[in-house]
Parts: sequence; structure tokens; C-alpha cells
Amino acid sequence: MTKIPCVFDAYGTLFDVAASARQAADEPGQEALARTWQPLAADWRTKQLEYTWLRAVTGDHADFWQVTQDGLDWAMERHGLSAPELRARLLALYRELAAYPEVPKMLRALKAAGHPCAILSNGSPGMLADAVASAGVGDLLDAVLSVEDVGVFKPARVVYDMVGARFGTAPGDVLFVSSNGWDVCCGAAYGFRTAWVNRSGLPLDRLPGRPDHVIPDLTAIPEIAA
Ligand code: LAC
Repeated sequence: MTKIPCVFDAYGTLFDVAASARQAADEPGQEALARTWQPLAADWRTKQLEYTWLRAVTGDHADFWQVTQDGLDWAMERHGLSAPELRARLLALYRELAAYPEVPKMLRALKAAGHPCAILSNGSPGMLADAVASAGVGDLLDAVLSVEDVGVFKPARVVYDMVGARFGTAPGDVLFVSSNGWDVCCGAAYGFRTAWVNRSGLPLDRLPGRPDHVIPDLTAIPEIAA
């Protein structure tokens, strides 16, 4: 019998979105960033996501690399940072974000058990190719699905439809895994089986759909998918 596909959100789920600011803050000459990297990273992420939702509502799509830069520009201005070299460094590091430590072993276990594995992400194809390559997980993924193929961001249903189109599965025969509460709730409302990776103990989002599983990291995914 075919094993259910396991489909992962990318940013925040497989790849650590705070790693760029954290790493840059450790570099020589970055004392100002060292003082403010945590709120900067949080604002960068919040604005990046807000811009995806707003652009999806207005129909004014721009790809995730553009939205990532726009979010960073807002966050840098808010925190009084303006050096072009710092902006360039943060963006370069964003192209090679670290995967969370449990990711390779978890994907290898899924593959060994026969589960197709994929990414379903807002990320542009170029960003996702860079992240997958720097994490060294390309061989463990059967598909890297980018919203650029449908031209609108999550949680538009046409994005979730890409999974069935790729794997020929009904939503209830897919395990969708995301660390983003809104993504996992909307994925659950769409009909996916879902696991929410709630790394920082956040409350459940008040949206239609509830995750089937809430886990602190990705370690249990092979067991949940079995
Ligand atoms: C993604 C964003 C939502 O990878 O993190 O789609």
C-alpha cells in the first residue's frame, strides 16, 4: 500500500528563520545588531507574513523574495538600522538558513518507511532551491512546491490544491506539517491531516480548522505518519 505523502511548510518549519539575524549579530562589527537582533527578526517575520496575506487579498502578488526584502526594510527602519552592507548580509544569510537539527534524520526515517516527502511553501523557487541545497536535504524530497506556480500566497486553497495535483491524493490522505499556526489551521480546514510544530508554546490560532497533532519539534513525524 502507498504510504501517505508528508508535506512540509518551509520557513519556520524546516528552516530556522531567525538564524539569519542571529548569525549576523555574532559577526565582528555588528554590536548594534547584537543588541536588537531578536525584535528585528520577529518584526521581519511578522511583516513578511503580513505582506503575503495582504497581497493575497488585494491580488497584488509579488514573489516571496520581494516580500522578504520589504519586510526586512520595514524592520531595519524600525530598529534604527540602515547600513546597506548589513541589509545585504542578512539577505545573503536568509538564502542559506540552517535546517532545524532534527530535520535530516526525520526525513531519512520517512523515506526509509516509503513516504513521499515534499515542501509546500510561499518561497520562490530560487529561494527554496538555495535553502534545500544548503541544508543538504534535496535527495530526501520528492517535490518542492512553490506558490509561484499559482501566483498567490497561502492560505489560498489553490496553494493547498497543488499537493493533490502533484501526488494524486485526496486532502485527507496527506499529512501536512507546519510551524505556522495559521497555516496548520487553514490546512486542517482544507481537509489535510495536520501536525503543528509549536516550538515556542504559542496558543492555538482562532481560525477554522484544528491541528490533529501538536508537537514541540519534528522528531515524532515518522511515528505520526505511520
Ligand atoms: C512558507 C512560509 C509560510 O514557507 O513559512 O510557506
